[in-house]
Amino acid sequence: MAVRLATVRTATRPQVAARTSSSPWWRSAVVYQVYLRSFADGNGDGIGDLAGLRSRLPYLAWLGVDAVWINPHYPSGGADGGYDIVDYRAVDPEYGDVADLEALVAEARALGLRIVLDVVPNHTSDRHPWFQAALADPDSPEAARYHFAPPSEEPPNNWQSLFGGPAWSRTPDGRWYLHLFAPEQPDLNWRDPAVAADFERTLRFWLDRGVSGFRVDVAYGLFKDAGLRNNPGAYSPTLFGHGPEQAMTWNQPEVHDVWRQWRSICDEYPGTMLVGEVCLADPREVALYSRPDEMHQSFSFRLLKSPWSVESFADGVRSALDAFGAVGAPVSWVLGNHDKDRQVTRFGGGAVGTARARAAALLMLALPGSAYVYAGDELGLPQAVVPDEAKRDPIFFRSGGARPGRDGCRVPMPWNPSPGVGFSTRPAEPWLPVPDGWDRYAVSRQSRDGGSMLILYRRALALREAHPALGSGEATVSTRGDVLTVRCTAADGSAVRCVVNMGSETSLVRSRGTVLLASNTSVRRSSATVALPPHTAIWLAEG
Ligand code: NOJ
Repeated sequence: MAVRLATVRTATRPQVAARTSSSPWWRSAVVYQVYLRSFADGNGDGIGDLAGLRSRLPYLAWLGVDAVWINPHYPSGGADGGYDIVDYRAVDPEYGDVADLEALVAEARALGLRIVLDVVPNHTSDRHPWFQAALADPDSPEAARYHFAPPSEEPPNNWQSLFGGPAWSRTPDGRWYLHLFAPEQPDLNWRDPAVAADFERTLRFWLDRGVSGFRVDVAYGLFKDAGLRNNPGAYSPTLFGHGPEQAMTWNQPEVHDVWRQWRSICDEYPGTMLVGEVCLADPREVALYSRPDEMHQSFSFRLLKSPWSVESFADGVRSALDAFGAVGAPVSWVLGNHDKDRQVTRFGGGAVGTARARAAALLMLALPGSAYVYAGDELGLPQAVVPDEAKRDPIFFRSGGARPGRDGCRVPMPWNPSPGVGFSTRPAEPWLPVPDGWDRYAVSRQSRDGGSMLILYRRALALREAHPALGSGEATVSTRGDVLTVRCTAADGSAVRCVVNMGSETSLVRSRGTVLLASNTSVRRSSATVALPPHTAIWLAEG
């Protein structure tokens, strides 16, 4: 591997095994999300690929995560970062081939890591053979697999694309077709049984190659109101998720039967799992997707969308614990992903944003459930400024530049301080520009710095692996002023308190027990109290 992880010994990890023999691995897993295009470029063309990811697996094992979810690796039309798929049972040649993916699975497994793929069932690319056949012949069987409406002056209803503008575009022969995202992403009609049958083939194709499951894109979509009635209200990107205002496009009851069927397929492949992207405002609705016979998990996006405030974080944690607890599913916590501004920037930027991101990481990694870590968050990357002329995200273009888009959290990962930050194996123009000063966040630098964000993550992950009260068990949430406390208790009665000072004044915390870890290296303690600086979290083991 190219990076020298100088001061910290590479841990020897067992072959893939559950954390405890009685609990499935995914209930408490730390899953590392790799945006393939931006992670590591193994063939020197400026685009991240499977060879690059394979070369960095030892880094992920050293970091201490359990599984790797990779964003779409399929041949794609390139309109939405790979979420417009042309062939679901192939690998985009830019990333490698199916043999590379099989090698990735095998090499990961040898290091104790599992591979989770992204699957995109709500829409295909407009270049998908089905859509091409549907364009050529309105009476073809393929046309029935999408939502077409006859030519008319006005679109069939008031639905909006989440990327901006109407959700209907015209075909060259004047028909309307539905796309809840970009026009290059026509929505599938899940009322046609051929659609379900084809996705079942796709799942088995990859499960037969040893993957450990799927992250399911837009899992709350798929079915639309059968009468395509108008939505009562407008979509707003600032909401926690969709609610009654968008009731006709999302969360139709029929969708749950798809997840029951997919669950039964996964049950044929022990140890595999489904995690759904369910962007609904009500956490109780989100949790319903993780009932015992549906998907194993659905993301909890509340912390990802919460401002830095004790009320918002406490509510986010409590509401998720309650909602998922009610269906017997673990919460799948998310602080960052490829669709949101980086935490450091969201939480205020600079030193304060970094301190808050460190504290938030300790909170998330203490909580019972699985935790999803977006590549680069362990380095404390800020949201990068991408010049407009280099941008790729359709959100930027479809909003006429009003929304900046998501490119700033998708720039190449910095591995070392060389001019190309070690992203490519040889000098190459990266597909998105590397920001000035990016070398300061490089893995090779941080791995030698005991105070770095990277070492904080590594320590936290090692403690989480070792301590039964971290990442599983029960949690209770309390607040006092700007201080948030989550007390996590394991089945054996041992407990860890995660205390987060979200205010701007130092706070004194009663400290029975041992400080396992602090997000700020200047935390001071006397025998009875810990002085917790602003924007800081600690883990206190009780007993
Ligand atoms: C959610 C994905 O996370 C996002 O990146 C994508 O643009 C949309 N789904 C559409 O597939």
